[in-house]
Amino acid sequence: MSTTSQRLDGRVALVVGGARGIGGGIAARFAAEGARVVVADTEIEAGEAFVASLGGPEKARFIQTDISKQADAERAVAEAVTHFGGLDIAVQNAGIYPWTLIENIEPEEWDAVLGVNLRGTFLVARAALPVMRAKGYGRMIFTSSITGPRVSSPGHGHYSASKAGINGFIKSAALEFAGYGITVNGIEPGNILTEGMKAGRSAAFIKGMEDSIPLGRLGTPEDIANAALFLASDESAYITGTTIVVDGGQTLPESKDFRLTPP
Ligand SMILES: NC(=O)c1ccc[n+]([C@@H]2O[C@H](COP(=O)([O-])OP(=O)(O)OC[C@H]3O[C@@H](n4cnc5c(N)ncnc54)[C@H](O)[C@@H]3O)[C@@H](O)[C@H]2O)c1
Repeated sequence: MSTTSQRLDGRVALVVGGARGIGGGIAARFAAEGARVVVADTEIEAGEAFVASLGGPEKARFIQTDISKQADAERAVAEAVTHFGGLDIAVQNAGIYPWTLIENIEPEEWDAVLGVNLRGTFLVARAALPVMRAKGYGRMIFTSSITGPRVSSPGHGHYSASKAGINGFIKSAALEFAGYGITVNGIEPGNILTEGMKAGRSAAFIKGMEDSIPLGRLGTPEDIANAALFLASDESAYITGTTIVVDGGQTLPESKDFRLTPP
């Protein structure tokens, strides 16, 4: 159970891909910390039900959004400005991760993955920039992954490219926006147990993932939300252009046999 400190009191946040999973955890944590939150997602029913659980329209609003589309990104930002008077924190967390070997990836599937994960990140930054720049304050936070920037696995050619691309974009955006009082950072989750992750993988595969994590468990959306809260808060004021790895130590071992064995 997390303790709350109202660290985001008075702030307005947009969480794209926030209807469930990691984004849901981030939106719930931000709301608990005092922020008013716009949840943008493709899934209307789940999104509407989720914002109702956060406290209703004065506290949280849902807007149907396909973040690969420029007009949708702009409408999501406008929702925050119109109903909550501004936008302080923009989280682009929407991501898709189909499992397809490179030899089988059709160009359309490549474009779809890059469209949501990478183009969506650019579109959120682009749409949020004028609002944050006018205020001289902003926190942009992008959900990257350990997959791409640090490690990879078969079936994730497009996904890895999209997430490595996000890390590159974070650096450029942080540099360009620094003079406007806007910080830009990312989070690289390891294996986080979410609806999306469970849907695409067998129980045996998930158990294998768990066994590869030095801290001995899969991550939760709350683990990522804690890092997002830090990056959204004033405590991270001097941090920009970087990512936080939240993976339970998964990317540390040199070999499969990383556990201490008795002599
Ligand atoms: N779960 C993991 O182990 C893990 C690990 C590393 C990175 N990530 C990243 O974290 C993010 C969230 O993953 P998750 O596991 O919570 O996934 P999830 O599928 O459980 O949730 C993703 C949410 O994004 C929404 N979404 C999908 N496409 C969208 C679009 N075009 N526009 C707006 N919303 C859209 C979905 O409807 C859903 O609500 C993704 O970017 C993913 O790549 C996840």
